[in-house]
Amino acid sequence: MVVDIQQAHIPVLCKEMLEILDPSPEKIYVDGTFGGGGYTKAILEKGVAKVIAFDRDADAIKGAESFKQEFGDRFEIIHDCFSALSKYIAPNSVDGIVFDFGISSYQVDEAHRGFSFRQTGPLDMRMGVGATYTAADVINTFKERDIAEILRVYGEEPRAKKIAQAIISARKNKPFETTQELATLIRSIVPSQEGFDPATLTFQGLRIFVNNELIEIEHALQQSNNCLPIGGRLVTVAFHALEDRIVKNHSRVPFSYQESVCAYTPINRKVVTPSLEEIKRNPRSRSAKLRGFIKEIKR
Ligand SMILES: C[S@@+](CC[C@H](N)C(=O)[O-])C[C@H]1O[C@@H](n2cnc3c(N)ncnc32)[C@H](O)[C@@H]1O
Repeated sequence: MVVDIQQAHIPVLCKEMLEILDPSPEKIYVDGTFGGGGYTKAILEKGVAKVIAFDRDADAIKGAESFKQEFGDRFEIIHDCFSALSKYIAPNSVDGIVFDFGISSYQVDEAHRGFSFRQTGPLDMRMGVGATYTAADVINTFKERDIAEILRVYGEEPRAKKIAQAIISARKNKPFETTQELATLIRSIVPSQEGFDPATLTFQGLRIFVNNELIEIEHALQQSNNCLPIGGRLVTVAFHALEDRIVKNHSRVPFSYQESVCAYTPINRKVVTPSLEEIKRNPRSRSAKLRGFIKEIKR
């Protein structure tokens, strides 16, 4: 079955992202997470000079073909990690940068990518460029202590130790191959709570490790400091506290830029979250947190 990646992903907080990024003609923007292209399209439709988009996932890059046809030179797609931002984007050269962190609905829904504990697929979880180990490599070959730390730190899983012990003992009989094998083991030892699958946090931790997600974000934000001019805008959408904390901390620390000290001024006093109506329409939006900043001279 061919899945249309643009149909599969409903952009989250898109209207709010546009209000805060405030794209205008003549200006150039970076979409660090192209995905199904929802944000890129919305920004291009504001008549901007150009959007340069990144994605590490080969399927997202394939999906970008139709954008090239529709928008021509006003659209460029780069198949790389957003942590390589400054390899492609010169200092002071773009007016706004947007990141919509995490995975797309398309990636979750494609069972063969191995992100979903609701479907059977190989224990993979690699988004694409820059991911070396699969989730199966971690589960079948890493030491118990390391698995526990990945689940504790990246999954915020309070039962990390217990789950790691159970993994080590199960893999002695047979290596894990599928998402269902791992999810079933976790469900057998962690009590389930209403509306929350016991495998959720383990899958989150593995995914973040496999894709180096938090370090990617730190690098990309550091590089954004230089790519944006004074007055440039940075907009981020985070889906869990670990991502959001990195953005919050980054935005609070001044940084040197050319001869000045700069800092980010928040555009909204409070973090922006989806309306009840959006959550109803798209339940995956429920944990989204949008923040927007303007780079300014501090002193
Ligand atoms: C939540 S989706 C973005 C959806 C997009 N805003 C839209 O409207 O369709 C996140 C996308 O970012 C990509 N991605 C995640 N981490 C990345 C990284 N470090 N570098 C480049 N792309 C990344 C994923 O492959 C995925 O396609």
